[in-house]
Amino acid sequence: MDKFLINGPCKIKGNVSISGSKNASLPILAATLLFDQPVILRNLPKVRDINTMFNLLKSLGSKIILSKDQKSAKIINKKNMKTFASYSLVKTMRGSILVLGPLISKYHKSKISLPGGCLIGARPVNYHLAALKKLGMIYELKDGYILAKSRGNLKGAIINFPKISVGATENSIIAACLAKGETILKNCAIEPEIKDLTNFLNKAGAKIKWSGRTCKITGVVSLSKIEYSVMADRIEAGTFCVAAALTNGNLKVKNINPRTITSEINLLKKVGAKIKIYKNEILIRGPKKIKSIRNIKTKEFPGIPTDLQAQLMVLMCKAVGKSSITENIFENRFMHVAELQRLGAKINIKNNTAKIKGKTKFIAAELMSSDLRASVALVLAAIVSNGKSCINRIYHLDRGYEKIENKLKKVGVKIKRIK
Ligand code: EPZ
Repeated sequence: MDKFLINGPCKIKGNVSISGSKNASLPILAATLLFDQPVILRNLPKVRDINTMFNLLKSLGSKIILSKDQKSAKIINKKNMKTFASYSLVKTMRGSILVLGPLISKYHKSKISLPGGCLIGARPVNYHLAALKKLGMIYELKDGYILAKSRGNLKGAIINFPKISVGATENSIIAACLAKGETILKNCAIEPEIKDLTNFLNKAGAKIKWSGRTCKITGVVSLSKIEYSVMADRIEAGTFCVAAALTNGNLKVKNINPRTITSEINLLKKVGAKIKIYKNEILIRGPKKIKSIRNIKTKEFPGIPTDLQAQLMVLMCKAVGKSSITENIFENRFMHVAELQRLGAKINIKNNTAKIKGKTKFIAAELMSSDLRASVALVLAAIVSNGKSCINRIYHLDRGYEKIENKLKKVGVKIKRIK
């Protein structure tokens, strides 16, 4: 299993180019199951989860032709696709549940493994199932699988999500595209990745309209062939902005729409970073002294994203004074705290709030990654630790960050991957 060796402390400076968004690519790739015509996608990130989705689509019968750099893909579906998604594939990536909506909508049946939980929480899919049931899906849960079917086409319905859910919103929008009649989804998640999905579908002839957290979808008979470039990864961009703020750095973050990370930018300005934003890039200069922030709370978009919580915790460890971070989205997303404490962090957890003492002098150590975003927080902590840190199980990182060590090396980090 690969490891990272990082020699700290380092200062982040120079330019970094942001890759395509994993969390926009996954629903868009799942939605290609709705198409009879070829779909060409560009700006796909070269990360493990995208590969897993390619393998899942191929197991269903899609033909996928990749460009040399693997950042573009042409997806061609067979006349009759398979509709079985095995546990072996789904267990490696929960986002696989996103093929349920398109399969039911297009092929009126599907047998797909329940995704199961992960380290950050139980990750149930009850909102997905309830919404698709309202559209006409009939299902039973058996031996860890969802056995689903519909009597002909799905039918439009009014669905009010009991809780905001990114995946359930995406699954329902995709399924409603080919349903008969009009679907109104209320209390939707409105993450930029979901807007990227609906931009993609509308460009192919779907009829999707937004008004706040309400999404109206008028069913169509089919979607036309399309070429589409996926949005940039706002979480990767936010991670590099935190790295610059953490190290009193000076960084140009390129190929990112700054409007997708407004709340993070405002928070980094509060800690003292100087930030200039342009149409497709962000210039950030880190403060000499990092100001602490009393009550950071993760929230659904447009709030502070849960996927940046671990990275912001490292920043607050280095701040002058006390701070706190409340995790409101997942029930167990403080896996990084124990590892940060091994580096010297002074953090107390009470329920879903972490109280952080600042001015931590991180001392290099051997560390263990647990989930994708916690792993990158350990990388940030190692960057500002004195000495050589070793981070194990970085396959978690490879799920969502494209060759992060190359990008970090280019901006001044002494890092190497060892097999
Ligand atoms: C998406 O997960 C992202 N994954 C996550 O990113 C992200 O952290 C999350 O949204 C929140 O923004 C992808 O886009 C592939 P949710 P998702 O449904 O859709 C509960 C990363 O690191 N819930 O908005 O699974 C759920 O347990 C990943 O890139 C139910 O109870 O998130 C959670 O507590 C991690 N029942 C909350 O809602 C359901 O049916 C929000 O989950 C669905 C969700």
